[in-house]
Amino acid sequence: MVSVKKIAVEDTYFIRQEILRKGMNLPYTFDGDDAEDTFHIGVYEREKIVSIGTFMKRSSGVLEGAQYQLRGMATLNEARGKGYGKLLLDFATKELLKLNITYLWCNARVVAVKFYEKNQFQIIGESFMVAIVGPHYKMYKTIKNENN
Ligand SMILES: CC(C)(COP(=O)(O)OP(=O)(O)OC[C@H]1O[C@@H](n2cnc3c(N)ncnc32)[C@H](O)[C@@H]1OP(=O)(O)O)[C@@H](O)C(=O)NCCC(=O)NCCS
Repeated sequence: MVSVKKIAVEDTYFIRQEILRKGMNLPYTFDGDDAEDTFHIGVYEREKIVSIGTFMKRSSGVLEGAQYQLRGMATLNEARGKGYGKLLLDFATKELLKLNITYLWCNARVVAVKFYEKNQFQIIGESFMVAIVGPHYKMYKTIKNENN
């Protein structure tokens, strides 16, 4: 059985460490993790969390309007390609609509660009390097516009 829900920040730590920080001397907690308007989403396969994402109210510096940043998006290796990442983003989009947010943006690792494009994100600007992690693109998705 698969379910999607909001989770506590502590419940993101295992996958963050295992997938996003393995072999990297970088923190697995983020500034803003505990902020009042931050939320964390997990996809459960039975009792186990297999996919995570963190949503923070932050400006991208390049978009205007109410916006959230997606951080720490990851799915366990054995659970990839089953649509869990998409389920998580669809759930988050509904939450962001309730909050009247216009844009969701992220700094996407180059390897994940295709995944984000399949989820209605588009690239803004040139690629840039993030120390230790590698090249990234800034990407965004419109959550809300004048027509919805
Ligand atoms: C990117 C990621 C979160 C996608 O999660 P997911 O649960 O597999 O996503 P979905 O099943 O909804 O979508 C799968 C799509 O993601 C893409 N993808 C990227 N890396 C993949 C991988 N290693 N395995 C399977 N799909 C992958 C493919 O385009 C795939 O599309 P397809 O099914 O048409 O081939 C996951 O691959 C991951 O955790 N990667 C490592 C961490 C990472 O790079 N996170 C993003 C940081 S910006």
